[in-house]
Amino acid sequence: MGNVAVIGIQWGDEGKGKVIDFLSSYADVIVRFQGGPNAGHTIVIGGRKIILHLIPSGILNEGKQCVIGNGVVFDPEVFEKEVKELDSLGFPCGKERILVSGLAHLILPYHRKLDSLRESKGRRIGTTGRGIGPAYEDKAARMGIRVIDLMDRKVFKERLKENLKIKNFLLKRYYREEGFKMRDILRSYDRYREFLRGYVGDASSFLLNCVEQKKAILFEGAQGALLDIDHGTYPFVTSSNTLAGNIACGSGLPANAVDYVEGVMKAYTTRVGEGPFPTELKGEEGELMRQRGGEFGSTTGRPRRCGWFDAVMARKAVRLNGVRGISLMKLDVLDVFEKIRICYAYRLGRKVLKEPPLSTTDLARCEPVYLEMDGWRTSTLGLKRYQDLPQKAKEYVRKLEELLETRIDIISTGPERDDTILLTNPFAVTL
Ligand code: GDP
Ligand code: IMO
Ligand code: MG
Repeated sequence: MGNVAVIGIQWGDEGKGKVIDFLSSYADVIVRFQGGPNAGHTIVIGGRKIILHLIPSGILNEGKQCVIGNGVVFDPEVFEKEVKELDSLGFPCGKERILVSGLAHLILPYHRKLDSLRESKGRRIGTTGRGIGPAYEDKAARMGIRVIDLMDRKVFKERLKENLKIKNFLLKRYYREEGFKMRDILRSYDRYREFLRGYVGDASSFLLNCVEQKKAILFEGAQGALLDIDHGTYPFVTSSNTLAGNIACGSGLPANAVDYVEGVMKAYTTRVGEGPFPTELKGEEGELMRQRGGEFGSTTGRPRRCGWFDAVMARKAVRLNGVRGISLMKLDVLDVFEKIRICYAYRLGRKVLKEPPLSTTDLARCEPVYLEMDGWRTSTLGLKRYQDLPQKAKEYVRKLEELLETRIDIISTGPERDDTILLTNPFAVTL
């Protein structure tokens, strides 16, 4: 079997968790390669809802190996909590099942504090407050502390001391806040070191061996293409590359390790946090989508902004990721709409654009140009066969395929694992 990547192609929360859980049964290993506990991946099995932030969504499938790659920013506090929660729910998270790359950079308490201070006292991005940006900044500034550094108390203490000098200066002098005490951080991180023993290792070597043994690898994207730090709606983005192009660097594999990219998108669009969103619906229709889709953040509980499907943005994301097939999520949320709209171009002043403009300021000024289709106004919730979909829903699906010039592999008709129409199995294509 080949290797498949599951990547969000909107602004995150597309339903990646469900798709990864669904496809994990065909994979041997599931790998996170970027982002951190800003992710909130929801899986619903038999009415039970589980939200994962750091541990790969494959963990709920028995016997699968999960890897947290070097490209992830790793918060040991979140990790410990998640392992214990999953264990107590009957999903064992033993050391034989989870491998954490020693090269992943740590999130420390001052990262979280700086993240929230910037939000309250600087330009608001609407971050998740999990310390993601500040942790990646330290990595790029070559000041970061990695998991492997934590495992050696002496090294950790030295690095922490150097870092605290600068962080406390910033916290006290610039933000007029309290600093952090070395001994408090040491005390909790000494505990995490013990907890992490046996989980930490060389994820790259492990994965290279998996490739040699022809094991099937599933790469779990977090966030979405439009939140990519280079290609997203900068500065309203996350601090990592979310595109499939980052898989190799973030997991320690060669560039040809990915055979198939499955793009995940909702049948409409949502965004949480600040930044331009051309098809946003601020009135009743948006509220109806939010209520029907349960559009409240999995990590922060914030209401998500909702709007019609934006094919201009999605087409760009498909091309940036080399998407070969699409998982179309939450079709059932549109069941009640009389008319359904798709944005296929933007109007910017007197120009009509088929591609998003380069500048975020220009994007914020773009007006969507819509095509309108009749809604199907009948329930699709839980449907499992394509032929059972109402004709108008089929037409909607085909229109999206046409606009994106990409095949739809999977249609999701509800949050449950088996509320799913499987048209093409990405793993079967890579055989
Ligand atoms: P992720 O971050 O991409 O994994 O997505 P989230 O878990 O943050 O948000 C997706 C939400 O939609 C979750 O609450 C899922 O349970 C839910 N969901 C996924 N697929 C469907 C679907 O087809 N229909 C409905 N109604 N809900 C879905
Ligand atoms: P999943 O994996 C949706 C958004 C935040 C904010 C911006 C920067 O569940 O799809 P950060 O905390 O990363 O510095 O925040 O990115 N954001 C997400 N939005 N889904 C996510 O993850 C997100 N992770 C970050 O709301 O706008
Ligand atoms: Mg999410």
